[in-house]
Amino acid sequence: MSRIFNEAFKSKVMSAEDAAALINNGDNVGFSGFTGAGYPKAVPGALATRIKAAHARGDEFRIGVYTGASTAPELDGALAETDGVAFRSPYQSDPIMRKKINSGVTEYSDIHLSHSAILMRQGFLGHLDVAVIEVTAIKGDGTAIPSSSVGNNNVYLEKAEKIILEVNSWQSLELEGMHDIYYGTRLPPDRMPIPLTKPADRIGQTTLQIDFDRVVAVVECDASDRNTPFKPLDDDSRAIAGHFIDFLGAEVAAGRMPKNLLPLQSGVGNIANAVLAGLLESPFENMYAFTEVIQDGMVDLIDAGKIVTASATAFSLSPEAAHKMNNEAASYRKSIILRQQEMSNHPEAIRRLGVVGCNGLIEADIYGNVNSTHIMGSKMQNGIGGSGDFTRNAYISCFVTPSTAKNGDISCFVPMVSHHDHTEHDVQVLITERGLADLRGLSPKQRAKVIIEKCAHPDYQPMLTDYYDRALKTANGLQTPHDLREALSWHVRFLETGSMKV
Ligand code: COA
Repeated sequence: MSRIFNEAFKSKVMSAEDAAALINNGDNVGFSGFTGAGYPKAVPGALATRIKAAHARGDEFRIGVYTGASTAPELDGALAETDGVAFRSPYQSDPIMRKKINSGVTEYSDIHLSHSAILMRQGFLGHLDVAVIEVTAIKGDGTAIPSSSVGNNNVYLEKAEKIILEVNSWQSLELEGMHDIYYGTRLPPDRMPIPLTKPADRIGQTTLQIDFDRVVAVVECDASDRNTPFKPLDDDSRAIAGHFIDFLGAEVAAGRMPKNLLPLQSGVGNIANAVLAGLLESPFENMYAFTEVIQDGMVDLIDAGKIVTASATAFSLSPEAAHKMNNEAASYRKSIILRQQEMSNHPEAIRRLGVVGCNGLIEADIYGNVNSTHIMGSKMQNGIGGSGDFTRNAYISCFVTPSTAKNGDISCFVPMVSHHDHTEHDVQVLITERGLADLRGLSPKQRAKVIIEKCAHPDYQPMLTDYYDRALKTANGLQTPHDLREALSWHVRFLETGSMKV
């Protein structure tokens, strides 16, 4: 049965190929999609075919690609493969797109997710020619029920000259009512306080406003989200989760947090999911989440009655959990709210609610500076995503990581980070399988001792202590002691020998 319940919109139905033909060389395109959920499934593939055909004829065809965050092989992968993506923002994690960014085919602007809507509205990301947005249905009143992510959809629908809607009947119609789309954001000097004082507050409407006159195509499809399975929990991720939960317990005991904690934010990936799994076994009840993505672990916490409400902008579920969500969306509506990312990641809301942030990292240095984005200083991995939005503004900002990478040849704790995303001023707690370093209130010299002792792998602890002791002498006891001749020598050694070990 068609999901287009408005007669006027029916007149705009066409094939994905015909819709893709409305996108031209040089266009900037705002796609829906966030962590593999809610991205358009038909038009990007047809557009990739159109780009390849143009290239085969020797014609120029390159576009700018904007999304909520990462998407899937059918979008980022398919478009990147054509070499037709001139510009990409704000977050991606696709292996082909990553390769094109790192080989210079694609310019990548890695910005905070909460900034992407503002930069788009200010015009710094260029003129938005087309929005390609997946929706669950078009209602009789001409508004659209969003699908499994909201991301930047409201902004792209607001700014784009032409709108292409993909109506995906795979998405559950019972998602209706789960979303909260706020149309009160303004740029200064007209900005007003966001009326969101609890994670469970609903401050907007359940559907997306669509300007019918700008809709140039409606494409119908029936295709599932990417839905990557999570890795099974290993001993390291269990240990990391254990340290985090002990820490939360100690915060409650110290009277710095209520018994049901403060709203939790959990980053992307397997360790974040493991932390959520750990919370299932924990004594905490009646918790709330104010976060970006709803992962399997979050759904399990809701099922167990441990999380009352989870506010996010997207799902990031395994195939099994996505199937369950599709079948039981009606029952999850009372406990899940999906907002646009300018709200899920809003610094004002994060600060007001007292969110406890927990994100992954690539490397940290002995003073607590964190690199979340670059391998060996130069190579882009994914992007900063929302980690900066949460780290800077959270009540407590935590990072979780194994102490080593690449089978122990890399220490995730180094003298100096090779790229800098989160500063020592924002990073408060570092957690590895070895232990937890609580950096709050410490000076750089005190931090170095705690980080080396609690977080670094024993294989690297003597090397880090040796560096620190020598840096202390070289820098004559200055505030943050470094020996600049050696600070990045660990990275150089890895690049030259394949190991940071001496
Ligand atoms: N030096 C070099 N490479 C390293 C490394 C280090 N210190 N630490 C990890 N790596 C490599 C891994 O070996 C792996 O390489 P591979 O892809 O070749 O296997 C890759 O980096 C990813 O590491 P992994 O441990 O699988 O990462 P993860 O899934 O735990 O994610 C981040 C870690 C930092 C990449 C991820 O959390 C991220 O993208 N963060 C930024 C965005 C964010 O935090 N979003 C959430 C905000 S709400």
